[in-house]
Amino acid sequence: MTLMKFSSMLCAASLFALPASAQQIPKPSPGLMPNPSMGKPLYEKNCASCHGPDLKGTDKAPPFLHRFYEPSHHGDAAFQMAARNGVRAHHWNFGDMPPVPAVSPDEVAHITAYVRMQQRKAGIR
Ligand code: HEC
Repeated sequence: MTLMKFSSMLCAASLFALPASAQQIPKPSPGLMPNPSMGKPLYEKNCASCHGPDLKGTDKAPPFLHRFYEPSHHGDAAFQMAARNGVRAHHWNFGDMPPVPAVSPDEVAHITAYVRMQQRKAGIR
């Protein structure tokens, strides 16, 4: 519990440290229905090399099947921000995540839906 509180504080702190331009959250198209089965191949192409084909992480990036990444801690906006701006290392020691410019906000929304579905299956909600 204490650990979770502490890491939430770190998240907030790192967000406030970003320049204003980086804080604009990319938005998917209005009315888009995020679809896990569309997200799966996009995840596999753009994210799996680091976050793992089974979402359990690799030696390059952390697992998404982890309570750090449950929706209440890393909401969908965190996924949009990560793809657009990259992520400065703050929870782990894998180093920074580079931006992934190949994915559009709509595609990130599909990827996020896929990650959420897998998290629910793993009991992370
Ligand atoms: C080159 C490796 C790499 C790729 C490719 C990659 N990531 Fe990451 N990602 C990382 C690392 C490393 C971290 C952990 C940073 C930390 O918190 O220490 C991370 C963290 C994240 C986070 C947490 C952000 C936060 O606010 O703490 C999200 C969300 C994320 N990645 C989404 C994605 C998505 C979506 C994709 C595919 C479009 C992707 N990543 C592709 C390396 C990668």
